[in-house]
Amino acid sequence: SDAVVHRIAAIPADGVGVEVVAAGRAVLDALAADSGGRFSFDWAEFPWGCGYYDKTGLMMDEDGLEALRDFDAIYFGAVGWPSVPDHVSLWGLRLRICQNFDQWANVRPVRFHPGVTSPLRKADDAPLDWIVVRENSEGEYAGLGGRNLSGRGPGNEVALQTSLFTETGCERIMRFAFDLARTRQVSKVSSVTKSNAQQHGMVLWDEVFERVAADYPDVATESVLVDAMSAKFVLQPEDLSVVVASNLHADILSDLGSALAGSLGLAASANLNPDRRFPSMFEPVHGSAPDIAGEGLANPIGAIGSAALMLDHLGHPAEADRVRRAIDATTGAGVLTPDVSGRARTDEVVASIIDNL
Ligand code: NAI
Ligand code: MG
Repeated sequence: SDAVVHRIAAIPADGVGVEVVAAGRAVLDALAADSGGRFSFDWAEFPWGCGYYDKTGLMMDEDGLEALRDFDAIYFGAVGWPSVPDHVSLWGLRLRICQNFDQWANVRPVRFHPGVTSPLRKADDAPLDWIVVRENSEGEYAGLGGRNLSGRGPGNEVALQTSLFTETGCERIMRFAFDLARTRQVSKVSSVTKSNAQQHGMVLWDEVFERVAADYPDVATESVLVDAMSAKFVLQPEDLSVVVASNLHADILSDLGSALAGSLGLAASANLNPDRRFPSMFEPVHGSAPDIAGEGLANPIGAIGSAALMLDHLGHPAEADRVRRAIDATTGAGVLTPDVSGRARTDEVVASIIDNL
């Protein structure tokens, strides 16, 4: 009879992030109110983002990580606004949290929804459903490199952007992908590589993949070059179950996946610290969409799907499925925002999802 209180840090940040985090919170609070007192959410909202930067010169408080550390999870909107250079806003908030809280596994399901027209004709006749697992702590986004190293003068500047691949980093994300594949109807892991051109990091990636695969003889595998994989997403998506890729490759492929499902606004993601030493962070894949921000037109489904991933993480898988079914009932009934060719506003989609719970 003791109610579980989940303490969640909400960071809406910028643009449509504000609208979609409010949407996700409304759905979670409705779910809690209907849980018969089994669980509830205790929210703390943090005002960080580009607006905060304009006032203070900081994307988040100096001691912000300390403030976040003891929450059960972080629910994030999107960061970025034209007033602040994107690399400053991204590194100052989202990447700072991901990297310091060792959220090394970024899980990005590609889900197709009833009532949403996919640009992929195959989606009309075959049920498609795969998950992109993104290495989230190193690779191309390790932040290593520098500019103007040679001091050669104007017009001759040089920049180095170095990728970091460690055996430990590769191994843990691959084991995560194999463990995830074992929970799915089709137990298969596709590794995304570019070892023909990148003979150091990506060859290590391939070698670790082969070694880890040997521990999972029951799971089918394939290794596909990233350019071929982008074609495969379009031409043979029925062949995919779990796709494991480096930070940059998975970043790009997961946007492709959500576009194939119909809109960037639909895609959910979880930045997990699987060791649970730090809070994990749940956020839609999309950015702050300055072109539609503040108009009440943002698609909240990516953020609400991310709330469902948070429910999974907090130990409520049945409630997570309930949210996913409510989303599908809403899209199936044609309650859709303009990005998926509908005429509904954000709050109408939210009200419909809450109704369908
Ligand atoms: P974006 O994802 O914000 O927008 C791309 C396109 O998708 C736009 O046409 C936008 O209107 C549409 N879109 C995105 N989310 C939508 C939603 N929920 N409903 C309906 N339509 C939606 O990507 P963009 O334009 O490249 O970046 C804008 C800003 O967001 C930049 O400052 C960028 O750095 C930042 N960004 C932040 C991310 C994060 O916080 N995780 C991820 C990607 C970009
Ligand atoms: Mg991206």
